[in-house]
Amino acid sequence: MSDRNNPPETSGVSRRGFLKGIGVGTVAGGLLSPAGLQQAIAKNGDVLGPGEFPLTLQINGQTRKLSVEPRVTLLDALRNRLDLTGAKKVCDRGTCGACTVLVDGQPVYSCSMLAVEAEGRKITTIEGIGTPAKMNDVQKAFVKHDAQQCGFCTPGFVVASTAFVRKHPDATMEDVRRGLGGNLCRCGTYAGMLLAVVDAAKTTKGGA
Ligand code: FES
Ligand code: FES
Repeated sequence: MSDRNNPPETSGVSRRGFLKGIGVGTVAGGLLSPAGLQQAIAKNGDVLGPGEFPLTLQINGQTRKLSVEPRVTLLDALRNRLDLTGAKKVCDRGTCGACTVLVDGQPVYSCSMLAVEAEGRKITTIEGIGTPAKMNDVQKAFVKHDAQQCGFCTPGFVVASTAFVRKHPDATMEDVRRGLGGNLCRCGTYAGMLLAVVDAAKTTKGGA
């Protein structure tokens, strides 16, 4: 959202600083580096693929087994193979944040990470963040402040915000505005969301 006004990144938690700090852009980009990719698709000296191979992922505290080709992204594996459709496929190119999940606690664009790269790592999707009966502090604050409209970008915002408030218990409105710059809302429901995340940061106090 901060891109619209393109503010100078002079202080606080800048958009890029936040991305580097909590890993959305950095992790997504780094995981697709040639060296990382080569390592990911080779096991014990054997190159995986091009056909499907068995894969085990740790998702929301559960062990999930599936078969995928090496080219399958984590997002497609979640949505198309494991029926975890909370993470949304919008841009499919690492710019909108609708597909955000946590990998080892860090927010990642799951459209920009291969499923095979996620093996052995702890994945948390929006389905594992909370439920309607047991929402986390961010979800409660989103409801309280009527933070979003379409619901399509909401899961990514909630996942990214959950990671954000853990690291920024004293976040100001400006911190949130800059910090969540890796997630985009096309209908512009930012006012309620800013209030919600500041509220959730105070409630969470870094412990969510
Ligand atoms: S769908 Fe992944 S960043 Fe947009
Ligand atoms: S609330 Fe989802 S795009 Fe605006």
